[in-house]
Amino acid sequence: MSIGTTCVQAGYTPGNGEPRQIPIIQSTTFKYATGAEMAKLFDLESNGYFYTRLQNPTNDMVAAKIAAMEGGTAGMLTSSGQAANFYAVFNIASCGDHVVSSSSIYGGTYNLFAVTMKRMGIDFTFVSPDCTEDELEAAFRPNTKAVFGETIANPALTVLDFEKFARAAHAHGVPFIVDNTFATPVNCRPFEWGADIVTHSTTKYMDGHGAGVGGALIDSGRFDWTKYPERFPGLCTPDESYHGVTYTERFGLAGAYITKATAQLMRDFGSIQSPQNAFYLNLGLESLHVRMARHCENACKVAAFLKADDRVAWVQYPSLEGDKYYELAKKYMPNGSCGVVSFGVKGGREAAERFMGRLKLAAIETHVADARTCTLHPASTTHRQMSDKELAAAGVSPDLVRYSCGLEDAEDLIADISQALDL
Ligand SMILES: Cc1ncc(COP(=O)(O)O)c(C=O)c1O
Repeated sequence: MSIGTTCVQAGYTPGNGEPRQIPIIQSTTFKYATGAEMAKLFDLESNGYFYTRLQNPTNDMVAAKIAAMEGGTAGMLTSSGQAANFYAVFNIASCGDHVVSSSSIYGGTYNLFAVTMKRMGIDFTFVSPDCTEDELEAAFRPNTKAVFGETIANPALTVLDFEKFARAAHAHGVPFIVDNTFATPVNCRPFEWGADIVTHSTTKYMDGHGAGVGGALIDSGRFDWTKYPERFPGLCTPDESYHGVTYTERFGLAGAYITKATAQLMRDFGSIQSPQNAFYLNLGLESLHVRMARHCENACKVAAFLKADDRVAWVQYPSLEGDKYYELAKKYMPNGSCGVVSFGVKGGREAAERFMGRLKLAAIETHVADARTCTLHPASTTHRQMSDKELAAAGVSPDLVRYSCGLEDAEDLIADISQALDL
């Protein structure tokens, strides 16, 4: 199936007389006739549900759809994008381990890695997405367990050179994890370019209507953990907290990573998406391919307007000809990148804040990738914990305005921007 058909159809096929829409299984628990049947579930010997803190059928239908969209073998929904990125790394790295990450990532992910996970004993080395192969090579250590980056970074709009990062990760025998939130699988499928694991903040385009916070974690099933059993003991040696199951032996490469994330991390952290939110997310997924085209069309028009306007200091949009990342975007996202445009208003930080105050249509929100146009000044909000040096490494200048084009008519967005630029 092509991507549009997958968005609409994958994940759930009702049988005769069953509901056409995915059922919302709003139940914490599931009934069994005998304790023995339930024991098999606890031993991971049979498939089934027993408690929604670990798994829920509605969630699994939606996760299966996203896995199909990405071309992966297995997936899970999480309560947020933050939880998805935490699980993606923590499923294979623990105290004493190290991860190489692009420095150009969402501020919340940077904080999760550089502060919270560091406190848990996991060290991160941040490299520029534009680093040379030698610089990337120098970031690895013997205890490195993964490489992480964002397809299109929020809000810097840098485009990750998948092949460069995948090559380095695989040369060191570690998986390449990609946060594909901004591009979505409609515009880019990182597994086709060497990524092994993909994450999403489904809160963004996938939901698309600002209805529910959520995340997704998808495995390509291609990374061979068994080649490096000492590096990935959690996947290749018995899990004593699960009756001695060895995930790679029992579930194969296609299922080991997500089963471990479910059996251990969901069990212990419980960051599951509510079935109700999974239902809303599925409604969003059904139109994702139609909406992404419109988000991208509007962003192209807005970026072209900004580039031609001399009240604007600079514009960044990966699909705008002349953009620093234009060639990479064309290679990895030939049909469009995302609906977010970054730019600077002449006059710096103060002018940016005044400009935002004059906008009438675009709302000031921390949110992004929504049906309704929204905008943000990251340096004073989402990225305010960062020093100027860290901001520069993340590609966020003090005057940067992040403008997320919604699904309105582009002429109205441009008219609103134009009147707001009259400072
Ligand atoms: C690229 C990216 N990853 C992860 C996140 C975190 O997602 P959530 O807000 O759903 O926890 C965000 C949020 O903006 C994001 O933009």
